[in-house]
Parts: sequence; structure tokens; C-alpha cells
Amino acid sequence: MTAMSLDEAILGRRSVRGFLPTPVPKALMRKVFNLAQWSPSGTNVQPWRVCVASGAVRDRLRTEFLRRVSEGIPAKQDHKDKGRLGEPYKQRRRDCARVLYDAMGIEWEDKAGRSRASLRNFELFDAPHVAFFCMQDIFGGQSAADVGMYTQTLMLAMTAHGLASCAQGTMGHYPDLVRETFGLEDDMTVLYGLSFGYEDPATPANNARTSRADLAESVQFMGGEIDYASNDK
Ligand SMILES: Cc1cc2nc3c(=O)[nH]c(=O)nc-3n(C[C@H](O)[C@H](O)[C@H](O)COP(=O)(O)O)c2cc1C
Repeated sequence: MTAMSLDEAILGRRSVRGFLPTPVPKALMRKVFNLAQWSPSGTNVQPWRVCVASGAVRDRLRTEFLRRVSEGIPAKQDHKDKGRLGEPYKQRRRDCARVLYDAMGIEWEDKAGRSRASLRNFELFDAPHVAFFCMQDIFGGQSAADVGMYTQTLMLAMTAHGLASCAQGTMGHYPDLVRETFGLEDDMTVLYGLSFGYEDPATPANNARTSRADLAESVQFMGGEIDYASNDK
């Protein structure tokens, strides 16, 4: 049990992009992954298959990611968005990038700086652990949502137990490497990853704070009297 309330865990979780090398103790690792196991899923099929790399396995993956990116080997994701982003999503994506670049002191026009920031993904933001979230290729959108719920439960459990994390779509760029490393079957697809460990408070990127759209932009209530003015952190 932790003293943190659910509200505190939800509002306290944020993407951390700079970690200390300190590994997470095994008992704590089991604790948070056991909590995530209680996530809901359609007809309780529990479609998630999660692979966690630590130590030498993590080091090898990181080296190979960096080699592929530096050699310009194109990403070949198993899962991609189906179309181009329109508004308001495009603007939100721009705002998200700006918050991060501002924290890192990178100008929008600084292409080299932006690609250095992007490369940090493949350095795993120096996290000692990285998890990959996979599911069999027979599953569709609803099961991917189940894996998403699992991931949020895991991230909240981590927050409540003093751990930091960053979900990473970029960890789905080379799914063949993940399958090969963990000996996964060919029909196992990789959705995304999650670097995690202990936050390095000295990393400037960790000062980035995102915002959220007003409740009324996302949620439509019908019937009864609803006050939309209270979704701020
Ligand atoms: C599925 C998923 C994939 C993400 N991929 C990346 C990524 O590849 N690199 C990254 O730096 N952040 C990534 N993020 C983090 C988001 O940018 C972040 O969650 C969002 O900006 C909100 O900020 P917050 O997590 O600090 O609240 C991802 C988040 C999710 C949920």
C-alpha cells in the first residue's frame, strides 16, 4: 500500500525523459506489474504481452536501436495511425513538442537540436529498464485499447510507488528487434514501449509540463446540469 491517493497518482504522473542509472528492485518491479495485471479487458482475454528489458539485454537493445537510427534504417511499425492528423490534434501535437523543446532549450528552427531530442528516445532517456507492449496480430482496436488501459494502470502504479516512466511510440519502430530479443512468435505485434526507473531531477527535459484541452472539447454530457469549469490540475 502507498499513501498516495488516486487523484495524486493521476495528476502526479507525467512523462519523464531523463533517468538515474539506479535499477528498480525486483520486489518493486513485481509489485507494479502485478497491480497492472488487474486491468480490465474485453471478456477478460488480457491481450497484453509485456516484455521487460534490464541489464545486459537493455544495453544490447539500446546499442542496436542507436545503430539502426544512425544508419538511417527506416522504421517499420506493426501499428500506425490510419491517416494524417487534422485539427485540433495537429496543434496539440505541435504544443506538446514546443513544451519539450522549451524545457530542453531547443529553438523550433534548430533541426539538429530537434533530432538530438528525438534520438534521446532510442537512448531510452538513460532509463535502466524498458518495457514493450505487444499483442497477437488477430487483435484489433478494442484489444489495443485494453493494452492501453493496462499501460496506464502500470504507469499509475509506478507513480504511486515512486517510479517514473515515459510511454514511447518510438519503441515500436523496430518490432523485429523486439521479437528477436524476446523470442516472440511471428504473429506477436509490438504497439509501443515504456522506459522506466527513477527520475533524474537534473535533466532539463523533465521540466516539461503539458496541458489538456477543456473538458467540453472532449466530453459531451447530455441531460442534467453540468459545470465544465473544473478540469484544471
Ligand atoms: C502511446 C504513447 C506513445 C508515446 N510516445 C512517445 C515517444 O515516442 N516519445 C516521447 O518522448 N513521448 C512519447 N509519449 C509521451 C507523450 O508525449 C505524453 O504522454 C503527452 O505529451 C502528455 O504528457 P504527460 O505524459 O507528461 O502528461 C507517448 C505517450 C503515449 C501514451
